[in-house]
Amino acid sequence: MTIPYPNHPAVPAFAEVEPSSGAARPRLAFLGTGYLGATYAICFAELGYEVLGFDVDEAKIAKLAAGQVPFHEAGLDELLRTNLAAGRLRFTTSYTEVADFADVHFICVGTPQRGDGMGADLSYVETSVTNLARHLTRRVLIVGKSTVPVGTAEWIEQLVAKHTDPELGIEVAWSPEFLQEGFAVEDVLRPNRIVVGVKSEWANGMLYAAHKGVFDLAATEDREVPLVVTDFATAELVKVAANAFLATKISFINAMAEVCEVAGGDVTQLARAIGYDPRIGNRFLQAGVGFGGGCLPKDIRAFQARAQELGAGEALRFLHEVDLINQRRRSKVLQLAAELLDRRSGPAGPDLSGTRIAVLGAAFKPNSDDVRDAPSLAVAAALAKAGADVHVYDPQGMENARVAQPALHYESSMAEAVTGAELVCVLTEWADFRNADPQALGELVAAKRVIDGRNCLDALLWARAGWEYRGMGRPAPAV
Ligand code: UGA
Repeated sequence: MTIPYPNHPAVPAFAEVEPSSGAARPRLAFLGTGYLGATYAICFAELGYEVLGFDVDEAKIAKLAAGQVPFHEAGLDELLRTNLAAGRLRFTTSYTEVADFADVHFICVGTPQRGDGMGADLSYVETSVTNLARHLTRRVLIVGKSTVPVGTAEWIEQLVAKHTDPELGIEVAWSPEFLQEGFAVEDVLRPNRIVVGVKSEWANGMLYAAHKGVFDLAATEDREVPLVVTDFATAELVKVAANAFLATKISFINAMAEVCEVAGGDVTQLARAIGYDPRIGNRFLQAGVGFGGGCLPKDIRAFQARAQELGAGEALRFLHEVDLINQRRRSKVLQLAAELLDRRSGPAGPDLSGTRIAVLGAAFKPNSDDVRDAPSLAVAAALAKAGADVHVYDPQGMENARVAQPALHYESSMAEAVTGAELVCVLTEWADFRNADPQALGELVAAKRVIDGRNCLDALLWARAGWEYRGMGRPAPAV
């Protein structure tokens, strides 16, 4: 029997695979139940697979097992509870249990930026793969999902060879993920593509079986899920190339914002106009305080570091510029604050002492509680460092923000944050902020000054309500 990928006749047929657990469908394990692993584990249980989530963090595992998602992601709590109740989904901190259970092990641990440079820290990958390998007693597939420097899959293969009996025939494959926070459930259940890096028909067949639920769902909805079957290096590179492209697109429009600022143009109209060209497209062309989060900033740095190691540093030198443009947008908010508050800037930046500033937004983007490398929180900290008394509010990110920047003041509502403020900075485009009534907020503040760090407010409406408005790369509206 052969198993073709549905809708992909060009893909060669695959060898029959029989999960070594004896189950009809491969049993899946996700190692590392952070944002990536927990979302995948829950969604694949929803697709009907028997799933085990593993993490070394006992508190995290206890939370998940009790039906609580440890982060904010729309729709995930309900799916977690349904699938725990259905008995398809379990969580563990035991390597023995995970090794016994699964036919396919997805490695989903974090790969943060190294403390001593721009490269990725692979220590969690090494620990999880080594410990898993030591406990394996039958033929399984280990699939990397974490974002890694190209060459990691080959290295993992060597680790596995070192720690397992070659007779077992354990194999490695790579399948990057493209989850966007806030849309992660949809991105797993209905991905816009699946990429697999494989070395054998068996690995390919096993990965097909592990994704059959995704293809079946697509078929019932009369959709196709494009599939790219490729080698290890390409599969690893796809992920960082995609993130590098997205980061470049954002920095491109932010560079245009810089030019608009000196030329008197409006970057929001410019973006709209160029975005009508389908070759350019209008998505990821939102100028503002730039990109943040746990992925784009660290991924473009790790990509440069790896290219340098491989002797192709020059090819990615532009990513350094992409990073610099992104950082400059954060400084721009400080500059605008000094201008609006009529404060002088010295060589160390503006002196904002004695001013009260409201910062609306702490998460790196709306519909997320993630504050990793969040432009909003970085700007809030910089304003405080310049002497301002900063009061922050975010609909979801408060708890994480408090841990990351304990010295700032946190308020429990938008109204409390803006009360008495001489300047309001909107730095994450939550719907609550976008739709805020400038008239009502105007009653609470000490002075009606607003910096729209995401160009998400109706500039004219705010100006008409008496606010002195500054956007990013757009002129102040003439009232
Ligand atoms: C990003 C990628 O979009 C995902 O495809 C990828 O899987 C993920 O990283 C990852 O590597 O795991 P995410 O970090 O959730 O996803 O966030 P994005 O939606 O890409 O936004 C990144 C940052 O760019 C945010 O701070 C956002 O505010 C900013 N952004 C986005 C802009 O400043 N302008 C835009 O036009 C779009």
